Amino acid sequence: MRLSLFVVSVAVFIGSSTHVSAAKLGARQSRTTPLLTNFPGQAPLPSLEQHSTQRGANTLPLDNIQGDILVGMKKQKERFVFFHVNDATSFKTALKTYVPDHITSAQTLISDPSEQPLAFVNLAFSNTGLQALGVTDSLGDAQFPNGQFADASNLGDDLSQWVAPFTGTAIHGVFLIGSDQDSFLDQFENDISTAFGASITEVQALSGSARPGDLAGHEHFGFLDGISQPAVTGWETTVFPGQAVVPPGIILTGRDGDPTTRPSWALDGSFMAFRHFQQKVPEFNAYTLANAIPANSAGNLTQQEGAEFLGARMFGRWKSGAPIDLAPTADDPALGADPQRNNNFDFSDTLTDETKCPFAAHIRKTNPRQDLGGPVNTFHAIRSSIPYGPETSDAELASGVTSQDRGLLFVEYQSVIGNGFRFQQINWVNNAGFPFSKPIAPGIDPIIGQSPTRSTGGLDPLDQTKTFSVPLFVIPKGGEYFFMPSISALTSTIAA
Ligand code: HEM
Ligand SMILES: *[C@@H]1O[C@H](CO)[C@@H](O)[C@H](O)[C@H]1NC(C)=O
Repeated sequence: MRLSLFVVSVAVFIGSSTHVSAAKLGARQSRTTPLLTNFPGQAPLPSLEQHSTQRGANTLPLDNIQGDILVGMKKQKERFVFFHVNDATSFKTALKTYVPDHITSAQTLISDPSEQPLAFVNLAFSNTGLQALGVTDSLGDAQFPNGQFADASNLGDDLSQWVAPFTGTAIHGVFLIGSDQDSFLDQFENDISTAFGASITEVQALSGSARPGDLAGHEHFGFLDGISQPAVTGWETTVFPGQAVVPPGIILTGRDGDPTTRPSWALDGSFMAFRHFQQKVPEFNAYTLANAIPANSAGNLTQQEGAEFLGARMFGRWKSGAPIDLAPTADDPALGADPQRNNNFDFSDTLTDETKCPFAAHIRKTNPRQDLGGPVNTFHAIRSSIPYGPETSDAELASGVTSQDRGLLFVEYQSVIGNGFRFQQINWVNNAGFPFSKPIAPGIDPIIGQSPTRSTGGLDPLDQTKTFSVPLFVIPKGGEYFFMPSISALTSTIAA
């Protein structure tokens, strides 16, 4: 008790951006700065004001949609609390009281900061969780019923790397707690255990954090993340150059563009694919140095330049976020930081050669743009991941060997798992022949391709037929498929 009071009071003092009203502790304390951060280079969130003036009657019911589905990768801190339901009746009773004060909508996350809580909380369920709660309607998804562990070998994962609690179907649900300070995560996690008591058991908590200083928004290999996200009609008020525009039903179940018939209570939910990825950062750096590309069309490269270049070719973007399709020979940090320019390319000038971007580069495999012959809505998803683990130490960098666990808590939201995350991973990333009909076989995605033969072509622009056998630096440790219902469905159906 004394400890938690201490934590709360420290939070008040160090939280210069926030003030806590004692009467509403644990609920919607107000802030003076936004809960989310727009990292430089990312397209900013719409504001509620823009939303109401520009969207008019087209708008989505943003106050009923759980916020994380739409906001993307703008979190400083996030904790995933995986739980098992012990007692459905008492869980439902607690849920009815908990939801109105704590479950945070998309609207709240773009409201005036004074309307925002110190931390947001969202809630999603696995299939076994819904079954345990007596919610037995089919949601119409092909992979959701059996869970991700049953799908892991289809995804190409090495099952021997999967760890508990993901090796099975014991996880019933997950609370997502997001904020800009760890103390608020602690406080809101404590609130959850107080509210739900013995009705649930916490199976595991995984905490992520933006990297420090200028590296905030970058994943652990060093690359700016969360740049290219589809613009959802009814949510985005500004479409940035090059951004895909998708109908809301690509992300939200039951909306225009969702190909599947859903039970009516499933309107405005989304399927959340969660993946626990370990990243071997010193090994990645050692590999790019050892295989540094000697030269490009601008001239010879030092070993360090050649290593940076190889990394950029593997991703399709430089560390700053600048796309190599627009900056093919050297990083351009001003381009990387400019959302008006950093997504404005479509590979149409390099459909048959890899001078600018390799066919198998991570961003080309996962969003092939003109390689598909034009815009295709179906396969888009919203990414909402966060890095976890400490910065890579000098000792690790010197040895080239990982000794501390770090990686990415990966989240992708879509209305159909088999069209979003799963399609990207199986049909594109792991498929050495994709994009199809290229003069040189693309090979697999060198970042996340899960395949026994990790061979990728086109990484050296002056020797495009050379293939690289890239060791695996991203190791899937587990994951689950969840359904994140609308806020009204939480009280009217899940808690009923
Ligand atoms: C540790 C694992 C991963 C890392 C480090 C990583 C990193 C990145 C980075 C740096 C970008 C470029 C920035 C941006 O456009 O946002 C990116 C883009 C993207 N990634 Fe990943 N990623 C990982 C896993 C995945 C997985 C598993 C998928 C799906 C199967 C995926 C799908 C995408 C998509 C769709 C894009 C945007 C492509 C575009 O629209 O241009 N990523 N990722
Ligand atoms: C580039 O490197 C090659 C091979 O190492 C060398 O022959 C050539 O002279 C170099 N060119 C320049 C401009 O330094």
